[in-house]
Amino acid sequence: MARTALVTGGSRGIGAAISQALKAQGCTVAATYAGNDEAAAKFTEETGIKTYKWNVGSYEDSAAGIAKVEEELGPIDIVVANAGITRDAPFHKMTPQQWQEVIDTNLTGVFNTVHPVWPGMRERKFGRVIVISSINGQKGQFAQVNYAATKAGDLGIVKSLAQEGARAGITANAVCPGYIATEMVMAVPEKVRESIIGQIPAGRLGEPEEIARCVAFLASDDSGFINGSTISANGAQFFV
Ligand code: CAA
Repeated sequence: MARTALVTGGSRGIGAAISQALKAQGCTVAATYAGNDEAAAKFTEETGIKTYKWNVGSYEDSAAGIAKVEEELGPIDIVVANAGITRDAPFHKMTPQQWQEVIDTNLTGVFNTVHPVWPGMRERKFGRVIVISSINGQKGQFAQVNYAATKAGDLGIVKSLAQEGARAGITANAVCPGYIATEMVMAVPEKVRESIIGQIPAGRLGEPEEIARCVAFLASDDSGFINGSTISANGAQFFV
């Protein structure tokens, strides 16, 4: 059955790979982005996937954007809350602004993305909610008190949503990527990145497509009994 999927932060990095994997699976996909118009236009041109611009940190913008997507593409069956940012700093240097920006996008952004689509999923008795968490929400990370807090929070969100949605045919699961070759990881100072790769038994960074395939499986009709779970894809860097 053709499904409609929404992927936040879906035009770049892991999100772009997810958008494309869902399209390849037969879904009609809407990919959101926050600011980079050029990258979004290029993504649409290359993939044929429609992009929509809004700030996931705003409930009003999210609700309005989702209403527009549903008007244009139909009711959303699959929602992938992927949009995320880093504002890394050791705790003693972390500013309240760095804390708040990450909370607004990575944690409140998940609420803002899922809450508007939830009633429709309940009515139609089908839904797939997938939240992109992180290895650093599982293990913590030097200089990421803000980011780790949000990514650990994501796991609480899906475990709770799973219980609320189960009887309505809705599943909620998380994927915890390890260090993946994206702009976000490439922004880490090279020396630090080399030391991180040294801690990955696989001896390499992951590829965005390796995360996208986990999401595509969780988004499929076949995954209905997997609910409230976390898939870790980190090259054996960390076990829960
Ligand atoms: N463990 C222990 N100590 C560490 C450390 C670590 N992982 N990283 C840095 N330090 C130490 C440094 O050696 C330095 O110690 P000294 O003062 O004794 O030399 C100190 O901590 C850092 O001091 P700085 O003044 O240099 O710190 P800074 O204010 O310049 O910040 C930084 C630098 C932001 C911490 C930078 O090193 C950095 O970006 N680190 C990477 C953090 C990281 O891994 N982020 C993950 C991004 S990818 C992602 O988030 C995706 C995902 O989901 C996996």
